[in-house]
Amino acid sequence: MLAIHSMTNANEISLQLDSTLRDLPMWEVQFELHLPGNTLIRSFEEEPLLPGIILTKNQYFVGMISRQRFFEHMSRPYSFGLFSMRPIEALYNFLQPEMCIFDQDMTIVEANQMALQRSPQLVYEPIIVKTQSDQYSIVDFHQLLLANSQIHALTLNQLQRVEEQSQLAKAGFRDLKKNYSRLLQNEKMAALGQLVAGIAHEVNNPVNFITGNLIHATQYIDDLFELINLYRQHYPKPVAEIQTAIAQSEFEFIINDLPHLLNSMSTGCERISQIVRSLRNFSRLDESDRKIANIHEGIDSTLLILQSRLKPHNKHPSISIIKEYGNLPLVDCYPGLLNQVFMNLIANAIDALEESMSNSPELLTKPQIQIRTENTNNQQVMIRIADNGPGIPEDVKKRLFDPFFTTKPVGKGTGLGLSICHQIIVEKHGGQMYCVSTVGKGAEFIIHLPVNSQQSLVS
Ligand SMILES: Nc1ncnc2c1ncn2[C@@H]1O[C@H](COP(=O)(O)OP(=O)(O)OP(=O)(O)O)[C@@H](O)[C@H]1O
Ligand SMILES: [Mg+2]
Repeated sequence: MLAIHSMTNANEISLQLDSTLRDLPMWEVQFELHLPGNTLIRSFEEEPLLPGIILTKNQYFVGMISRQRFFEHMSRPYSFGLFSMRPIEALYNFLQPEMCIFDQDMTIVEANQMALQRSPQLVYEPIIVKTQSDQYSIVDFHQLLLANSQIHALTLNQLQRVEEQSQLAKAGFRDLKKNYSRLLQNEKMAALGQLVAGIAHEVNNPVNFITGNLIHATQYIDDLFELINLYRQHYPKPVAEIQTAIAQSEFEFIINDLPHLLNSMSTGCERISQIVRSLRNFSRLDESDRKIANIHEGIDSTLLILQSRLKPHNKHPSISIIKEYGNLPLVDCYPGLLNQVFMNLIANAIDALEESMSNSPELLTKPQIQIRTENTNNQQVMIRIADNGPGIPEDVKKRLFDPFFTTKPVGKGTGLGLSICHQIIVEKHGGQMYCVSTVGKGAEFIIHLPVNSQQSLVS
């Protein structure tokens, strides 16, 4: 008889998700079949936890008899007398128990699954485990169940950890996306700023040239007119050739019209200079830093840049701008960044109006954008930009400020505009920004900006 066994509880051994039967405590009590039945009784009684005994014939494995089956049978009338003195073989042949033999490398989870598929009367029978060297041992089914539940708990634990890690990864991805969107928009605006600044610079020189020369030209023409007047006074009756030339050149008309012409040329130049100033104001490449600025100037220069989009084109009537500027103090801010915000908001409003005009022109006969500013009493200014376009449905409103959220066709919108606006107003200036909209009536974006944002960011 060979009796090596372990009393370890499956809860006390450390298991992994892929632990095998090899990791479980095993019983290796075995008897030769020719021994009398009562030797089994002794062994089972000596070892109250012994789940079963391996039976051999000439040292070769034959089968197994479990404690439960053995006592179940022995407690029957006459059985004890019949089998206790006879060879175990007699009892074994009589019982012919079904066996479940697994390889020692089978995982606990798999073994458990297969063992549970046994017929109900056998389901609690011990498991026979075969080693590589063709040795057989016994595993208590209860131990297998315990080990399985331990692995189950481990799995849940790991799942939770994976879940936590994936949450972390998701958060990281969100940050990454946000950073990326910032970079992209900064680049976009920097590129636009450079372009605008470049154009402004190129246009500025020739305009200065014309404006400067116009002053001299006006002066020279005045001088010439005076000279002509003098001639007329002293030579009221010129020769016939001069009289004909005067008549042919509509001299009187020229004398009348030339001052007007010069005047409108200088108005035109003034207008060009104004545009150049706005372009520079918008790009603010040289002064992207914080400074005390006039909000209305920023809005006006943005409007000038978007002017061409407000004019009527194709079937669209012009978009009117209704300004209601309050009495605003100068604001300590990043004017270049605020211009980006105005640009994005007004461009969005124009997009929305254009879309609704092309979808249902009969509904929107007077497209307009209303820009209102107000000095609210608590050291804040309020800027509201409203359009009478299609408005924003609730599900879109929830995601407005998400980076990359856009409802515009591919290639038209990046979905960055509002997320950048939000960053600029909230993070850069410590202000607030939100949207109020009723579907069918239009949308309004409201900005609250601290007059001294440095203070409000610190506090
Ligand atoms: N005034 C508005 N009226 C209706 N919908 C608007 C208005 N402003 C924004 N939206 C909606 O919000 C979405 C997001 O705007 P956002 O400015 O962030 O991105 P975009 O305009 O689509 O793209 P981008 O500004 O990057 O070119 C728009 O696609 C549009 O659906
Ligand atoms: Mg936009």
